[in-house]
Amino acid sequence: MENPFKYGGLVRGPYFADRRNEMNELKREMTNLNQVFLVSPRRFGKTCLLVNLIERLKREALACAFIDLNAFPDIKSLATALTSITSKALETNKDKLLKMFAGFHKLRPKVTVDPDGTISAGLELAVEEKDALSALLEGMHHAEKLAAKKKKKLVVIIDEFSDLEKFNGQTIERALRSEIQKQTHIGYIFSGSEQSVMLAMIRDRTRAFYKLGRIMELGPIEQRAYAGFVQKWLKKGGYSIKEDDLKRIFDIGNDVPYNVQRLCNVMWDAAMDTKVIKPALIEKLPVIVGRLDCAHY
Ligand SMILES: Nc1ncnc2c1ncn2[C@@H]1O[C@H](COP(=O)(O)OP(=O)(O)OP(=O)(O)O)[C@@H](O)[C@H]1O
Ligand SMILES: [Mg+2]
Repeated sequence: MENPFKYGGLVRGPYFADRRNEMNELKREMTNLNQVFLVSPRRFGKTCLLVNLIERLKREALACAFIDLNAFPDIKSLATALTSITSKALETNKDKLLKMFAGFHKLRPKVTVDPDGTISAGLELAVEEKDALSALLEGMHHAEKLAAKKKKKLVVIIDEFSDLEKFNGQTIERALRSEIQKQTHIGYIFSGSEQSVMLAMIRDRTRAFYKLGRIMELGPIEQRAYAGFVQKWLKKGGYSIKEDDLKRIFDIGNDVPYNVQRLCNVMWDAAMDTKVIKPALIEKLPVIVGRLDCAHY
């Protein structure tokens, strides 16, 4: 049986532990088309939570667009990506998409033919970088209009939102706020791990995002539910562990989901033969992890 404790990348489906309450809360906020700032230290599971949330929201017929700000070096690339991702979330028909893209003023359509012959519709900026911000606003305005026309709710998730500062800072914040406030068909989640940057953006009266939405501080995964998740997989794999011994893993990992996953992953492999997990093995896990992860450098 494959090791069920995944770490590092995106964790989905049966490998994703708990987060029931957080998921329900975010679902409720997005159904009401609110703005939420999701904040936590690194590796607490924001991106995993958001990706799993998207799957859930899609099942409920909400359109979802996910943007990782990290991936965009300038407003120009952000404007084209945001516009095409939101459009594609709302319109799946390629011909209609291309027609729609042809109607933009600041962006122009870019048709690419993939190696397998399929045509995909994309966008590129038709203007200079100095006009990139107005192109971004045009795209956001368009997303709102399209959602209204389609009678759909659109959820826009912007991950690594504290990166917004790398663009021209306050100007983009003000422009985004005023556009967002005009919208009635789009909910937003802004997610970030630079807590000081995120909180300054939202709590500072002089900043454009001041009280634009609520702050949701993502804590560790609820321990009982997480322990239940770990136990369930261990049982499935034929392993046995005492409940109190399992709790030790959460202590050692400081309740940080990434750490707990890494420890459980190593524990699974280390006890592969005997399938009995003793306290001595648990205490040895950090050393094994240290040795394994060091080897990559
Ligand atoms: N609910 C979960 N179930 C199982 N593993 C999880 C869960 N949440 C997080 N993890 C583990 O933690 C790792 C980090 O999660 P993720 O990348 O979502 O964190 P993040 O808060 O977005 O971090 P960063 O701020 O660095 O972007 C994942 O690769 C996974 O191993
Ligand atoms: Mg992340």
